Amino acid sequence: MTMIVTGGAGFIGANFLFYMRKTHPDTRLICVDKLTYAGNLSTLATVMDDPNFRFVKLDICDRVGVYQLFEEEKPDVVVNFAAESHVDRSIETPEVFLQTNVIGTETLMDACRRYGIQRYHQVSTDEVYGDLPLERPDLFFTEETPLHASSPYSASKASADLLVLAYHRTYGLPVTISRCSNNYGPYQFPEKLIPLMIANALADKPLPIYGRGENVRDWLYVEDHCKAIDAILQKGRVGQVYNVGGHNEMCNIDIVKRICKALDKPENLIVHVEDRKGHDMRYAIDPTKIHRELGWLPETKFGDGLQKTIQWYLDNSKWWQDIISGAYQDYYEKMYGKRAEV
Ligand code: NAD
Ligand code: TYD
Repeated sequence: MTMIVTGGAGFIGANFLFYMRKTHPDTRLICVDKLTYAGNLSTLATVMDDPNFRFVKLDICDRVGVYQLFEEEKPDVVVNFAAESHVDRSIETPEVFLQTNVIGTETLMDACRRYGIQRYHQVSTDEVYGDLPLERPDLFFTEETPLHASSPYSASKASADLLVLAYHRTYGLPVTISRCSNNYGPYQFPEKLIPLMIANALADKPLPIYGRGENVRDWLYVEDHCKAIDAILQKGRVGQVYNVGGHNEMCNIDIVKRICKALDKPENLIVHVEDRKGHDMRYAIDPTKIHRELGWLPETKFGDGLQKTIQWYLDNSKWWQDIISGAYQDYYEKMYGKRAEV
């Protein structure tokens, strides 16, 4: 079996490749990645020489390149992780989000139609449902919750989801979609909340909380997400959407305080800065469907997962220090330099 994994040099895609290498050693894995600012080839160093692994530097919007790869490799399965994934960047520059997240998805699915495929899996997000009010803890996103995206990022992911379902209905493409909550774990780019706070805390730098820090996310350890996708590929029903999340809701300020405590850093590093535009209040997944149909449940408790993650960033400081020593500095200045303290 040959599987194309797009976006495999990014956070979740790389963790998925490692998980697949461990659990399905006979599967030939083809990693397709454009290596944007978020893609890091050094992440894949341990699998690079594996004879059952191939890395291809390619933009998923490059139709000629994608078709050529399908002709060469004749993949059985495509798992599409490739995306522009950061909400703050989507507020600054929406266009590249539409290009990669929508047109890239369309290009991959056109290749699947043309060359045939057993399964096209779209890695989506709970953010397509918009947000829930803090004062209604009884509400959760189910697969039937209407799409109601808030940011250019989530709107682009919702658009892609609609296109995936349309390709199933119109062309009979054998698709599945997973909509997962916030992930954390090794190899996450230090622009996202948890790694950014770990890196800043270790450098005794301010920890910038948007607004009051009351926003709630439903955090899942990345390996649990990988297991969910594997279960959907093996047992999921074609044409279906599966929500993935673990009833692990935490508000931002509490997470940052836990990171301070774990690293023995003072909470007075925390600064409240200007809020994100259109900031979603609460995400919360109802994972009943994937549990009932596929038997999936998250295995890593938040306390253990956070500890493992912090330890990983301590043990692998070169990985993230290389990132934050380069163009990341300009990004940080652009995003945080103009954010007034509140
Ligand atoms: P990431 O930003 O860490 O990685 C994205 C990868 O895609 C990078 O390696 C990048 O180089 C590659 N890429 C970007 N544009 C490309 C293009 N045009 N062609 C080929 N490759 C391209 O993202 P992530 O956090 O690993 O997220 C992966 C997927 O999971 C995304 O689709 C995202 O929407 C989804 N998701 C993420 C989370 C989360 O918490 N991080 C939660 C739910 C769903
Ligand atoms: P993020 O990791 O960007 O994920 P998403 O926006 O996709 O949920 O942010 C998680 C939460 O943390 C979100 O409510 C925004 C907040 N946040 C901060 O308060 N400060 C920061 O510096 C960052 C990056 C995020």
